[in-house]
Amino acid sequence: MSKAIVANQPGGPEVLELTDVDQPSAGPGQLLIRVAAVGVNFIDTYERQGVYNVPFPYTPGSEASGTIEQVGEGVEDYQVGQRVATAEGRGTYAEYTVVDADKALPVPDGVSDEAAAALPLQGMTAHYLINSTYKVEPGQTVLTHAGAGGVGLLLTQLLKARGARVITTVSSEEKEQLARAAGADEVLRYEGFADRVRELTDGRGVDVVFDGVGKETFEGSLSTLRKRGMMVLFGGASGQVPPFDLQRLNALGSLFVTRPKLKDHLLNPQERRWRSDEIFNAAAGGKLDVRVGERYPLAEAAQAHRDLQGRKTTGKVLLTP
Ligand SMILES: NC(=O)c1ccc[n+]([C@@H]2O[C@H](COP(=O)([O-])OP(=O)(O)OC[C@H]3O[C@@H](n4cnc5c(N)ncnc54)[C@H](OP(=O)(O)O)[C@@H]3O)[C@@H](O)[C@H]2O)c1
Repeated sequence: MSKAIVANQPGGPEVLELTDVDQPSAGPGQLLIRVAAVGVNFIDTYERQGVYNVPFPYTPGSEASGTIEQVGEGVEDYQVGQRVATAEGRGTYAEYTVVDADKALPVPDGVSDEAAAALPLQGMTAHYLINSTYKVEPGQTVLTHAGAGGVGLLLTQLLKARGARVITTVSSEEKEQLARAAGADEVLRYEGFADRVRELTDGRGVDVVFDGVGKETFEGSLSTLRKRGMMVLFGGASGQVPPFDLQRLNALGSLFVTRPKLKDHLLNPQERRWRSDEIFNAAAGGKLDVRVGERYPLAEAAQAHRDLQGRKTTGKVLLTP
């Protein structure tokens, strides 16, 4: 037996219970991982609540780092004892988890177990947003919300390394300090942000908005864009954006809108390797700071969800088995 978080039905954080489960084992093409650290992500809260359809009983989590304990039949690239991580696991809120070998990421020396659990999902998300969804060029101006969050801190650092000007929003003084330390040029509060962004861009507007807050910021975000600018809605931390009349894009200046997700940007081993190598190498080389803001024992997964949804966290949230 080993321990895992199990929810028997969708609901609030209290449905997440530490439970004794059968010890999993690696099937063909799989790896059994002894989990060192679990990455908590906003999507875990949507799944727990039933916003996204998942089967129950359900163990949350798609991100973790750890050591290979068992290698399944047919797997040639990995050995027992090697350190790996993933952003595409299932049921990683556990002491042991099984990962498809083709979705595992080898962890380079110089990247700690904690950083390896913190980086894959939010780091590869920041990577695809600025390289594939909208290829940000040096000198462009970008608005990104929740600048002290997990994605936010990484996105800001990658954008500054690219040579972009970064305007971001946060809800508190402490978060403002963190966003500035990550390199943000302008750090705003949410109230009145759209008008302030117009002022800061001399009326022109920003080239692109990366908006993971959703419901509460979407309208304001749209109004900050330059003509033919790009609205990238990549999440709904404040709730989902209601249906939208496409005709408005015309009136607002021939805007573009997209709603991407990570899975569609990890389509083959080359693409996965490109994104993970760039992110892990930047961290190993000291060019990308990975801030773990909160750590909780596995048993306190419910509290981790409460704090993430309650805007109490900064940077990455981890669970440790
Ligand atoms: N599409 C994709 O591929 C993809 C991948 C990863 C993440 N995401 C999305 O990216 C967003 C950020 O994810 P994350 O894991 O890095 O979380 P996070 O940014 O660390 O946490 C969410 C932050 O959103 C802000 N926020 C604003 N209004 C909020 C509200 N009403 N309730 C809760 N939070 C609110 C809070 O920062 P302030 O207090 O500063 O406002 C909060 O800390 C989420 O929407 C997530 O679903 C999407």
